[in-house]
Amino acid sequence: MGKLSFKDVLPLTGSSQTIPHIGFGVFRSDGSTCKASCLTALKLGYRHIDTAQYYENEAQVGEAVRESGLPRESVYVTTKVIQPVGNVEETLQSLRESVGRIGLGYVDLFLIHSPSSGKEGRKGLWTALEELKKEGGTKDIGVSNFGVKHLEQLKEFSSTTPVVNQIELHPWCQQREVVDYCKKNGIVVQAYAPLVRAQKNNDPTLQSIAEAHGVSVPQVLVRWSLQNGFVPLPKSDNPGRIKSNADVYGFELTDEEMKKLNDKALPDEEGAICPYLANCP
Ligand SMILES: NC(=O)c1ccc[n+]([C@@H]2O[C@H](COP(=O)([O-])OP(=O)(O)OC[C@H]3O[C@@H](n4cnc5c(N)ncnc54)[C@H](OP(=O)(O)O)[C@@H]3O)[C@@H](O)[C@H]2O)c1
Repeated sequence: MGKLSFKDVLPLTGSSQTIPHIGFGVFRSDGSTCKASCLTALKLGYRHIDTAQYYENEAQVGEAVRESGLPRESVYVTTKVIQPVGNVEETLQSLRESVGRIGLGYVDLFLIHSPSSGKEGRKGLWTALEELKKEGGTKDIGVSNFGVKHLEQLKEFSSTTPVVNQIELHPWCQQREVVDYCKKNGIVVQAYAPLVRAQKNNDPTLQSIAEAHGVSVPQVLVRWSLQNGFVPLPKSDNPGRIKSNADVYGFELTDEEMKKLNDKALPDEEGAICPYLANCP
């Protein structure tokens, strides 16, 4: 594996854009806290923020990017929509409102947050997203929490391939079937809950690997994601942790350590800490 760096970007199939290899998550980061955390993250060198309509902090993410003084094109901003809000035109209007709330002219990536609205719902959402892309509201479109079945179904009504699938990924939930499918089909895989929400910080395997490198357990988890080629989206509202979660470029997990972590895999539904949606109709 080549040496990884904080500035790495990954290509997106069928797009002229690239995506920063590490992102910053803002789920459960409220209002002014979210803005302050994003400003801290941008100052430290993160260039990729992951919000959603559902998080109710799109506006604060946009404010932080504007206040950071960074050129618009140097920061990658993602948002998401969960379900249709009526017909395609009405859904499109809700997407435009997100872009307006963020206030950066366009977003880089707009995702269907969940497959849970059924086949017709997904069709309506995807069609609205394709329209938003055509009119310049987003550079690219993608999906989240999709299983192979949902990705295959998209092809029945669209020739646009999602550039990413954002799914829960950490050693206990590795979703290998959909990850393999995405890799074969040129879809970048984003890893959400990459720190397992700090629930495995006392795991002995993680602790011994962290100790061997003189780093923290969350740093090992971010590194595991990066070395697997995923795009991890660690979230924190603590400035020290925002810094350390991205301070992962001074060590490398060995093949043996990667194997030990890969061997932690549980059946996806069992290992997931978020609702597991890949099987929903
Ligand atoms: N598409 C989806 O359906 C979906 C679902 C879930 C998440 N996501 C995205 O993925 C991002 C990350 O997932 P997540 O927020 O669920 O979980 P996560 O990043 O795995 O964990 C975040 C939690 O870990 C704590 N934490 C962060 N760094 C730490 C450290 N170094 N040491 C100890 N604790 C630490 C945070 O608390 P503090 O803030 O206090 O540090 C927070 O409680 C989200 O923010 C969101 O952008 C997407």
